[in-house]
Amino acid sequence: MKTTIVVGMQWGDEGKGKIVDVLSSKADAVVRFQGGANAGHTVVIKGRKYILHLIPTGILQGRTSIIGNGVVVDIEELVEELGILKRMGIDTSKLIISSRAHLLLPLHKFIDKSKEIKRGTAAIGTTGRGIGPAYIDRVGRKGIRAGEMRDSSLFRLRVENIIEQYNQNERKLYGSEKVDVEKMTSHIMKLRKNILKYVKDIEPLAMSMIKKKNTILFEGAQGTLLDIDFGTYPFVTSSHPMSGYAFAGSGFPIMDVQVVGICKAYVTRVGAGAFPTRMSEDDEECIREAGGEYGATTGRKRNCGWLDLFALKYASYINAVDKIVLTKMDVLTGLNKVKVCTAYKYKGKLLETFPSEHEVLEKVVPVYEEINGWSADDMKALKKGKMSRSIKKLISLIEKYSEAKVVMISTGPGREENIKLGVL
Ligand code: IMP
Ligand code: MG
Repeated sequence: MKTTIVVGMQWGDEGKGKIVDVLSSKADAVVRFQGGANAGHTVVIKGRKYILHLIPTGILQGRTSIIGNGVVVDIEELVEELGILKRMGIDTSKLIISSRAHLLLPLHKFIDKSKEIKRGTAAIGTTGRGIGPAYIDRVGRKGIRAGEMRDSSLFRLRVENIIEQYNQNERKLYGSEKVDVEKMTSHIMKLRKNILKYVKDIEPLAMSMIKKKNTILFEGAQGTLLDIDFGTYPFVTSSHPMSGYAFAGSGFPIMDVQVVGICKAYVTRVGAGAFPTRMSEDDEECIREAGGEYGATTGRKRNCGWLDLFALKYASYINAVDKIVLTKMDVLTGLNKVKVCTAYKYKGKLLETFPSEHEVLEKVVPVYEEINGWSADDMKALKKGKMSRSIKKLISLIEKYSEAKVVMISTGPGREENIKLGVL
């Protein structure tokens, strides 16, 4: 396998975790480059379910697993996740955290939650994981980075200082709870003890991996339409879930890669924000149940919509997607007709590209094409290498709009439930 970047082409929850797990077996290292514990990557191995929020999925295959500088590292969640994996018998010794990654502290979660309450009807519907506030501290140049944990007394001072600032400023601004400096500091110092051994400088490691011609797998979290710049702003996350950020968020230099986009056979969205192809309530209910569309991180119901090829075209372009893995085809099995959106109309005119203004996106009218559905027998035949006309039609539409090749179809949550159509 070539060095690969895996990205979500929709609003997240496309099934990246499962595909990264499959590809991990061929990689020397797996790298997360953005986001934080807002992600929920579900992998099912031999009927056992693993949900990873922060640690790269490669850990399940025993790969070197790097949390890059572009990730905000929730130290409470990290310690919790390490504990869960260890109890499940997973070796976590190959985890590495970039010394340049910013730490996400409990304060960030308090701020996130109280800000959402303050926003009222304009709430973003965040995961409450403190992502926005942690990235604000990062660009505001007051964040604490993982490398600072190396000097215990300096780290303690930095932590005390940031808690005091929080008590003075953000807490009053957003009405979140006051924090006991002493208690919180000692809590954080305890977490530090569990995490410190994983902290390393990534650049020399990356350099030697490149010299050895190692294969790297970059694991995106969330999806393109949640990108802070290219997503449905302001209803987005605060990082860049797109291929272009894989290098900036990891400490690996730009290199020759292939980009694998993960595309679900329908779309889902959690949280607020425009969702042009949302299904009727009945269809949505049915797909949500069939697809288990509940948040892996928050348990929230995901809204469901028809496959949006107009948005997919844009996502494929912005990520330079080479190959597509189509997931959750099985969920739509048995429907008489399947709708796909091929264009947006705004004020009666067809739009040229995915709109940058949320106010426009809210008012677009999707133009649909209807294709025949596929049966359980069609799915069975597909597993034996025979593709029905309706499935062929769906794939050819995806390939037409994305200008990328569909190389794999995932037909269930298990590691083995994949149909290969090309080389990954
Ligand atoms: P935040 O990332 O918690 O700030 O949330 C911002 C928006 O991104 C909200 O609409 C969330 O529901 C959405 N979001 C964040 N992470 C994920 C994810 O892993 N899957 C799907 N949606 C997500
Ligand atoms: Mg998810």
